[in-house]
Amino acid sequence: MPSAVIVYNKKLTGSHYLMGLEWRFTEEVAPGQFIMLKVNHGGYDPLLRRPFGVYNVVDPARGGGHVGIEILYKVVGRGTSILSGLAPDDTVDILGPLGNGFPTPKAGEKPILVAGGIGIAPIHLLTLACKGATVIFGARDKSETPLTADIEKLGVNVKTATEDGSAGVKGLVTDILAGEITENSVIYACGPTGMLRAVASMARDVGVRAYVSLENSMACGVGACLGCAVKRSGDVKKNKRYQMVCSEGPVFESTEIDWESL
Ligand SMILES: Cc1cc2nc3c(=O)[nH]c(=O)nc-3n(C[C@H](O)[C@H](O)[C@H](O)COP(=O)(O)OP(=O)(O)OC[C@H]3O[C@@H](n4cnc5c(N)ncnc54)[C@H](O)[C@@H]3O)c2cc1C
Ligand code: FES
Repeated sequence: MPSAVIVYNKKLTGSHYLMGLEWRFTEEVAPGQFIMLKVNHGGYDPLLRRPFGVYNVVDPARGGGHVGIEILYKVVGRGTSILSGLAPDDTVDILGPLGNGFPTPKAGEKPILVAGGIGIAPIHLLTLACKGATVIFGARDKSETPLTADIEKLGVNVKTATEDGSAGVKGLVTDILAGEITENSVIYACGPTGMLRAVASMARDVGVRAYVSLENSMACGVGACLGCAVKRSGDVKKNKRYQMVCSEGPVFESTEIDWESL
């Protein structure tokens, strides 16, 4: 499997890290696509690769040195804990880019990008393609909103909400979304399931499209194990009832998901 050399693995606020990898994709990466990382180079524990969104694709000609991609991750368990202990010049195996990515806004549509917690990772790459967009970033507290200052420099209108009020307004991203959404909006969202469900419901009420990136646990990442299946909405044929987040997503139009089943 192809190995990427780690250039940096910087600790940010809370338990977040930004990892720069020397890596060139052989194809263009669409915002929202992801990679499967084998964190245990040379070993078997943990056996399965872990999925991560592509936070940034760095163009060496624009001062990125030999960094090719960046991932932003949060330590939540064994795999990400091992990842956080890796140092420059260590290597990790990469599979990707995988999945479909976010579709670009249509002419006249006003993009609103909504990120909950570590959901900011794929939203950041989309931000680079949506100049002038509104980005709504929410989390429990300030430590869970890393790199907000960097995103503010990207020519977008960033609005932050934290549950404890330690950054931005006190409340939820959906509180801000309620004041931003109009009939010309198209919404792109990544974050916890509850947040995505609420965003889908608000989009439906206003009659606009919303694209959600699901972060189901994954084993293979390529449509082989059926471990990431989610139920389709509506009255569909028996053999079409489920869709694979890894190979048919991770981005879906919100109306395609049976939210009650999640
Ligand atoms: C398409 C996709 C893109 C992702 N992008 C990113 C990213 O850019 N940055 C990032 O930090 N994380 C991202 N994730 C989540 C990341 O893959 C998991 O946090 C990681 O696999 C956890 O591995 P672990 O071994 O540390 O934790 P484990 O030991 O496997 O699990 C620790 C705890 O975290 C929970 N958990 C594990 N995976 C998930 C998940 N997907 N969603 C919610 N809870 C989970 C487990 O239930 C358990 O409670 C993404 C997931 C998907 C599917
Ligand atoms: S993770 Fe195996 S089918 Fe999606």
